[in-house]
Amino acid sequence: MEKILEGQTALVTGGSRGIGAAVVDRLAAMGARVAATATTMDGAAHLGTRLGDAGGRGYCLDVCNDEAMDTVLKQVRQDLGSPSILINNAGITRDQLLLRMKDEDWDLVIQTNLRAVYRLSRLCVRDMLKAQYGRIVNITSVVGMMGNAGQSNYAAAKAGVAGFSRALAREVASRRVTVNCVAPGFIETDMTSGLPQDHRESLLHQVPAARLGSPADVAAAVAYLVSPEAGYVTGETLQVNGGLWMG
Ligand SMILES: NC(=O)c1ccc[n+]([C@@H]2O[C@H](COP(=O)([O-])OP(=O)(O)OC[C@H]3O[C@@H](n4cnc5c(N)ncnc54)[C@H](OP(=O)(O)O)[C@@H]3O)[C@@H](O)[C@H]2O)c1
Repeated sequence: MEKILEGQTALVTGGSRGIGAAVVDRLAAMGARVAATATTMDGAAHLGTRLGDAGGRGYCLDVCNDEAMDTVLKQVRQDLGSPSILINNAGITRDQLLLRMKDEDWDLVIQTNLRAVYRLSRLCVRDMLKAQYGRIVNITSVVGMMGNAGQSNYAAAKAGVAGFSRALAREVASRRVTVNCVAPGFIETDMTSGLPQDHRESLLHQVPAARLGSPADVAAAVAYLVSPEAGYVTGETLQVNGGLWMG
């Protein structure tokens, strides 16, 4: 693979599994020094081992912990240089019908999937603006567009990230910093592995591509948006959903 990201540092949250892991591998293969995060020391150590040869590192980060976020970003800057690429990928679900939704499940999903995106973007964008170059890609979801029963917290957070991204894109576009979203449909990861079989089958009937997506499908979309040649694409959401929803 052509090393078109050589010399750049990319920060990827939630790089230990699923979509984040595929993004980490893809960006490293494109030549970036990748700083990837996991929520445990063990996960961070595994990432470090995986990325060592490519000049990247693993870090332990809970994106809900502001102090840890500040510390990790400082460390990344010291170790690998200021990120010119930020992939806000870390995300969780806490599904429940609204009538049974607990306040703590609402708050945790909003904090992890929306507030952390705002906060880490704010921390990273200053150096991108100074350098007059940057790429922010936020992983949203088809659910933020379509809605999904039992996921009002998740849909609200993901739709919020899309709006946030368009607003930030307008603030920073003149300094060659782009802000985009990739909105996966249903992708084979730990997040979807718990879906009951009948739900899975009914989902497959709604996907024109007749399969769930792979993490690599999503990583390919991210790879385009972080590439230098995507410089005129900003405020956009790239759907990677096998045709499940067409905007
Ligand atoms: N899978 C899908 O069908 C699908 C569809 C649409 C959108 N998405 C979005 O794609 C992104 C990745 O999803 P996935 O399916 O790859 O999920 P996953 O397999 O469940 O992995 C989640 C990742 O996020 C990390 N993470 C969780 N809570 C965190 C926290 N508080 N702080 C920092 N990191 C945290 C996890 O770290 P640990 O390994 O340390 O726990 C893990 O690396 C999410 O934003 C998700 O909403 C997924």
